[in-house]
Amino acid sequence: MAHATSIQYEPVAEIGGGAYGTVYKARDTESGQFVALKSVRVQTDQNGLPISTVREVALLKRLEQFDHPNVVRLMDVCATKRSDQETKVTLVFEHVDQDLKTYLERAPAPGLSPDRIKDLMRQLLCGLAFLHSNRVMHRDLKPENILVTSQGQVKLADFGLARIYSCHMALTPVVVTLWYRPPEVLLQTSYATPVDIWSTGCIFAEMFRRKPLFCGDSEVDQLGKILEVIGLPPEDEWPTDVTLSRKNFPSFMPRPIAEFVSEINEQGAQLLMNMLTFDPLKRISALNALEHPYFRDEETLTQTKR
Ligand SMILES: Nc1ncnc2c1ncn2[C@@H]1O[C@H](COP(=O)(O)OP(=O)(O)O)[C@@H](O)[C@H]1O
Ligand SMILES: [Mg+2]
Repeated sequence: MAHATSIQYEPVAEIGGGAYGTVYKARDTESGQFVALKSVRVQTDQNGLPISTVREVALLKRLEQFDHPNVVRLMDVCATKRSDQETKVTLVFEHVDQDLKTYLERAPAPGLSPDRIKDLMRQLLCGLAFLHSNRVMHRDLKPENILVTSQGQVKLADFGLARIYSCHMALTPVVVTLWYRPPEVLLQTSYATPVDIWSTGCIFAEMFRRKPLFCGDSEVDQLGKILEVIGLPPEDEWPTDVTLSRKNFPSFMPRPIAEFVSEINEQGAQLLMNMLTFDPLKRISALNALEHPYFRDEETLTQTKR
């Protein structure tokens, strides 16, 4: 890790008062390029940085070598010793014009075209398939954590530092949105990469609706809002050993998703439901989602029908 953040990077503006610290826009005085600086304070002991931090930074650097078009570039990592107990780790990312939340808000009425949505979804799933194939889960996919360049290129951000955060989170009381959380996370059972697919489904719906799909204000409320739409799953799909029993919910019947996402086409609705599947084992994977007929262009669709 390098040791010269403040000399090389000149702060320009605060861009995100994030949950774990502030993100700054800065100028790289060597190249003139804009960057985004994200700092995490890490507790240290006589051995220096905790091994978990070193591992996570190494993982981000390893992923960076693939240069994936749908993942934000990590340009540099610097460590600044603050005291014997604390070191500031600064991640230097390429600066991207906006996040998906702003992009959706800025889209003039009546919102994004179906083709634009399809293109964003394809890129989002490509980025996700790449992370998943490297055994990296995002865990907190939401419009604020997806960046969109002014050319419309999607870049996943804010992943891979889960363990560094969890140390820091113990120190900072944070409000984390529940809206993109899948049932297995709300029920606190074990979870894996299908978590991100659920969130992607919520975001897919939101691109059409221009407002979030499930807006719960507590874990139970969030799960209730989900089940009202997708229906109460059969008994054998409800995880065992969870505090929240299936009996707490009325026997909701699944409702047609087009009621909630009106502009979506038939294939899109099908893919969306494959993502918003209660059982994580039955949920579609990022790779399979990319193969879904929704992404086949009109020409190939008519060819396969013949
Ligand atoms: N590389 C970047 N370029 C431009 N804006 C960014 C970049 N990274 C993050 N941001 C903005 O800062 C916000 C917070 O950054 P994020 O990495 O999500 O941190 P946090 O862990 O605090 O959520 C994002 O929602 C986004 O709006
Ligand atoms: Mg974030």
